[in-house]
Amino acid sequence: MHPSPTGIPTTSSKPAILGGDPLCQASEFQRDLIGDQEEKAALDAIRWARTHHKAFDRYGGIEVDAYEKDFASYVGLSVATATSSGTASIHAILAALDLEPGCEVICPPITDPGGISPVLFSLAIPVFADTRSDSFNMSPTAILQAITPRTRAILVTHIAGEPCEMEEIMEIAKTHNLPVIEDVAQAHGALYHGKMCGSFGHASAFSMMGGKHHTSGGQGGMVVTDNPALLEKIKAFADRGKFWTSRGVRNQTAGLNYRMTELEAAIGRVQLRRLPDILKRRRDGALHFQKMIQGSQLFSLGWIPEGAISSYWFLRIKVHTQFSSRSKEEIVKAMAAENIPSAPTYTSIIYNQPWIQDRAIFAKSGIPWSLAPQGIEYDYTHACPNAEQALADHILISLNESVSKETLSRVALAMQRIESAYR
Ligand SMILES: Cc1ncc(COP(=O)(O)O)c(C=O)c1O
Repeated sequence: MHPSPTGIPTTSSKPAILGGDPLCQASEFQRDLIGDQEEKAALDAIRWARTHHKAFDRYGGIEVDAYEKDFASYVGLSVATATSSGTASIHAILAALDLEPGCEVICPPITDPGGISPVLFSLAIPVFADTRSDSFNMSPTAILQAITPRTRAILVTHIAGEPCEMEEIMEIAKTHNLPVIEDVAQAHGALYHGKMCGSFGHASAFSMMGGKHHTSGGQGGMVVTDNPALLEKIKAFADRGKFWTSRGVRNQTAGLNYRMTELEAAIGRVQLRRLPDILKRRRDGALHFQKMIQGSQLFSLGWIPEGAISSYWFLRIKVHTQFSSRSKEEIVKAMAAENIPSAPTYTSIIYNQPWIQDRAIFAKSGIPWSLAPQGIEYDYTHACPNAEQALADHILISLNESVSKETLSRVALAMQRIESAYR
């Protein structure tokens, strides 16, 4: 391989899978997320705990309170409560909505299992609203069609950092008087019409597990809302039903323990300050890559709605297989031979998971589906054809803020030579 004046190496036009040199190295995609500032914050938190004769519990600490304030202000809302994960955040929001067992919650067909399990553990029945074709996100029209007299909430998930059409969704929710939960696990800092994802819904759940845009060190979650009364219930559920009132602190309702610790919050606060830079790097990288593949017939970046600014949790690439003699899976194999971290699909359609297919949430009881009024059945067979097609038509490339534009240029070049060879 020899560098060219453009910085892009000139190389054999043969893809690696056909005997050429791989254009990328696996090490180029490594993520350097934790640095000196996080190390210092963690050590400071340990020193603080030692000098104050404490462990890292949030009570009497400083970091969790501060992280909650910083987070709410970052999203542009008034209040937040830190939790142990994104899953816990969604569960705590649902619990605070007082859903009656057997009611329906509108859910995305493409999401992480942690983005759906809380619905089932809240004894609510998921009704899946289809995506737009070419998107992994639910469409407003499909949400509208999924509403029934038993719908009690809409759970909206911004997959891959790509914003859902939130204004349209909020309008539908308002008409039908339904609360909207935003799952922002994959979309920290994503914008729709200039407004941040997580600031549209009645309450929003973030995940700060280690793979997300910013992390509280490995696991972590946050709920943000503009409704202090709702937050009080969410916070209490995440703290074994403990309410903090003017009359003292009392465990008044049933709840779980989903609290964040001081150590996690100390790291999360540093990361939150770094988030704008992380987002800029991801966006610059993605836009650069988009320019580099502009001439391709086989590949294009996934469609996002007008006015949406993605935070690119991964690169969602449409493969126009009509321009290739090979399948999407073969194309991804060729990309893997170039050391590009890619995958032929993202997760599976959630209603095809065996635990949903077999109705196996609470052993063999069939709960929550069996809680529906008699005569109401939930058949999820090909419930969301657009979502199934969208998964079939797209591949993923892992993107992170440490990946340089130069590397992304070589990713594009590798894809170009795969396209030529597999025409
Ligand atoms: C869309 C979505 N929702 C929820 C979750 C669950 O978050 P956590 O892993 O922090 O529980 C994830 C996690 O990856 C996710 O991607």
